[in-house]
This record gives sequence, C-alpha cells and structure tokens, in this order.
Amino acid sequence: MQRRQALHALFGSAIIAAASIGHVYAADAQPFKIGFILPMTGQSASTGKQIEAAIKLYMAQNGSAVAGRKIELTIKDDGGVADTTRRIAQEMVVNDKIDVLAGFGLTPLAFATAPIATQSKTPMVVTAAATSAITEQSPYIVRTSFTLPQVTVPIADWAAKNGIKKVVTFVADYGPGLDAEKFFKSQFTLDGGQVVGEIRTPLKSPDFAPFLQKLADLKPDAVFVFLPSGQGAAFMKQFGERGLDKSGIRLIATGDVTDDDQLNDMGDVALGVVNSHHYSAAHPSAMNKKFVAAFEAANKFRPNFMAVAGYDGMHLIYNALAATKGKGGGDALLAAMKGQVFESPRGQILIDAQTRDIVQDVYIRKVERVPAMGSQLFNVEFDVQKAVKDPAKVK
Ligand code: DHB
Repeated sequence: MQRRQALHALFGSAIIAAASIGHVYAADAQPFKIGFILPMTGQSASTGKQIEAAIKLYMAQNGSAVAGRKIELTIKDDGGVADTTRRIAQEMVVNDKIDVLAGFGLTPLAFATAPIATQSKTPMVVTAAATSAITEQSPYIVRTSFTLPQVTVPIADWAAKNGIKKVVTFVADYGPGLDAEKFFKSQFTLDGGQVVGEIRTPLKSPDFAPFLQKLADLKPDAVFVFLPSGQGAAFMKQFGERGLDKSGIRLIATGDVTDDDQLNDMGDVALGVVNSHHYSAAHPSAMNKKFVAAFEAANKFRPNFMAVAGYDGMHLIYNALAATKGKGGGDALLAAMKGQVFESPRGQILIDAQTRDIVQDVYIRKVERVPAMGSQLFNVEFDVQKAVKDPAKVK
C-alpha cells in the first residue's frame, strides 16, 4: 500500500491503474499447464528419460514463465501402454485442465490419445512417435519429431546410388516399421534396386536370432533396418555375434538404430554403418555444440533425437503461448504453432501449416570414432537433403 501511495503522489491515478492491472494479472493469472505423457518405465524408458532431461534443460535455460503466465510442467509415466496413455490424457484434460498435451513415445500411444485432443480441443505436441499417419488422427496434433518416410527415402536413394542392388528390409512390425518398409521399397525400386526379402520383428522384447538367420540365408547386398529407439544395441550385438558384419551383407539403417543414446556402447560392429536421420549429437552447428555441452553437464548421457524433439516441442509451446500474449486457448495456440520456423540443435525446422508436421533436413551419416570428441562413436554427417517434407504427405 505504501508503494501505491507513493506512486499516486508521483504520477496520478492513471499510472497506478495500469501498474495494478499488470500486478493483478501476473499474480492472479492461472498457471499454464503442460502435461507430458512419456514411457519412463518399460522397454521404451530411454525415450522418456531423454525427453524429460531435454524439457528440464529447456526450462532451466528459458525460465518458467511466459508472457506473465507461470509454466507448470507435469510428466506422467504411461509405461508404453496405450490404455494407460489414454487414461492419463483423460485425467489431465478433465481434472487437471491442462493447456497442452505432449510426449507420446510410441505410435500406438499417440493414436490412443488423438480422440481426446480432438474432443477437448487441446493441442497435442508429438515429440517422439513417428508413423506418418499420426498427424492425421486429430487436427490438434502438431509434431516436432520426424516421420519414418521422411528419413527412409534419403537412405534408399543413397543405397541405390552407391552400388547396392539387392536389399532385404528388416523392420519392427508396427506403424513406423511398416512405413519404413514401404517407403524404402518404393524409392529403392524407383532407383532401379530390388527388395529381395521383407523381414518383420515383433515390437515387444524381440529375439532377433531367427530373423537374422533368415537374413543370412537370403544373402542380399545389404540389409536396411528400422527398429525403435532402445532396440539398436541388442540388434547390433546379435548381428555381430552371428558374424553378419563380416558376411558381406552391408548394414544400412535409419538413425533410430545407431541411436546416440546407445551408440557409444555398441562397439566396432557399428563402425561404418551408413544411416539417415534428422539429428546427430555430432551435428557441427554452434547451437548444437552448446546444446550438447549443457545437456551433458546436467545428465550423465548424450542427447539423442528424442531429446531434441522434446526440447523443440517446449520451444514450440513457449513461442505459441507468447504469440497469444499469455492468453492461450486450444485453437489460438494451435494457430500459433502452425508455420513456426526456428533453429533447432538439428538445424532449421518448420511446422508445415497445412499438415502440422515437421519439415527438416535429413542427413546421411556414417558411424565413426571421432578423435576430436574423445574417440567416441558418433554419426558423422556427410551429405544432406534439405527441407524434407513427409513424402507420405506430398501429393
Ligand atoms: C517410434 C518409436 C521410436 O522409438 C522410434 O525410434 C521411431 C518411431 C514410434 O513408435 O512411432
């Protein structure tokens, strides 16, 4: 009250009115609630761990208030089980009145939640799951991760142009794997190559042995592999144990397999594997170097592509809230998310206003030991396709 009286004496009532509105607004404004649903336990726990670390880093660097609204972050574990994801999303929307849903570590978890986003008009920011069709399940879905067709077409093209003629595809048997299988085949055959076998492995606790035997029998020039984050190290181990790395069958993959979360523990079997993806911890931009250094200072592990999509998902949400001057609201936030362009640790990204899906550069990389980076294994970028739209959405 004393301060108010002093202000009154100095400036008159108009200024005081403005000052107190500002004061009342900030103090009385509801917190802005962001609810992440992630697999923190179970087979995909590394996805939750990576994204949690990244969103906490984002908030530590950018503060926990936007346009006068305090940001209230909730992270809930769905264990990678779709029924649980749906139940948590329902509780977040109905009981907690959250403003934005985010996360979704696996395709079925995103599919299960889409109707809730639509019914409640809540923006749903997908920071992990990567089946192309996810963004078509609700007009409230926006994606900051990637799509399998987006990262698969460039490696199919690279393979055909680098002397590989016969390929066996080897994918996890669900949404993203089927996207990878289909888009590899269409691009590779368009380029004159031949797919001589299509192997699918179960999503849950796969034993790769019988499938690797089948692959060995087919004797292709190369095997193209997609497995979700968390399965790459087990695959590499079994590939090496069976001597397949020395059998003349070349291994190519999406970067989900040579995942930064596990790559350094894979050992020599991973050396030389050419793969395509949108993020490498070794991406040589100034922004990425800063991001990796800050991430590693706060955590005992290297950021992977899941971490970057979580970090960018937070940036997208912060930007959207700022664009609505702190008002929020499902439709206003969604409108503010569409068409956003910004620099990510992976390079420049765009949220396509029509599809709500991400447009980004896709790099061709090779696994190498990098002397300048402690002789650890990294995906070293050597070629790029710029501003790739999801090919499944290009008519
Ligand atoms: C999906 C999950 C992953 O871990 C990944 O690397 C790619 C796609 C998914 O379920 O959509």
